[in-house]
Amino acid sequence: MSRNILLIGFMGSGKTTIAKKLKKMSGMEIIDMDREIAGREGMSIPEVFERYGETYFRDKETALLIELQARDNLIISCGGGIVVRDENFAEMHKAGIVVLLTASAATTYRRVCNNNNRPLLNGNMNVAYIQELMNQRKPLYEKAAKIVVKTDRKRVQDICAEILERVQNV
Ligand code: S3P
Repeated sequence: MSRNILLIGFMGSGKTTIAKKLKKMSGMEIIDMDREIAGREGMSIPEVFERYGETYFRDKETALLIELQARDNLIISCGGGIVVRDENFAEMHKAGIVVLLTASAATTYRRVCNNNNRPLLNGNMNVAYIQELMNQRKPLYEKAAKIVVKTDRKRVQDICAEILERVQNV
């Protein structure tokens, strides 16, 4: 695979887990955008939000997306909010094949509830809020995606096999 694969989806949709397994199955390299930004800023994502605000973080996200267009053979795990900026749609497609991972609000809650590294869910860690934010974002994710893959009740291995097969046919 020489074209990059971009994994998008709501927080807890499985981007990080799927990226790791895809790496094992394909030999491609992973770039986790949150991790990359946190590493470059020398602080965690919640700290970036707290110190500089969401707009600053979104600027870093767009800049990294543009930077990654010069590379190939990457699995790019995008932050869940990559779709909130209009300009990112074109930039994502220039960077590679966009694969949307979906999960229900209940599954998502189960996956994220014990984790406090997501500033947007701090103080709002419940299924109803997740469902509300998910509903707002759903059209954006669907607009951005070339391929949509459901993750509820599926094995990681099977999800990855499905992704690798479907990206061949894009
Ligand atoms: C965000 C999702 C997070 C991270 C930041 C904002 C969002 O990434 O980029 O907290 O707006 O949905 P994950 O989807 O990897 O949790």
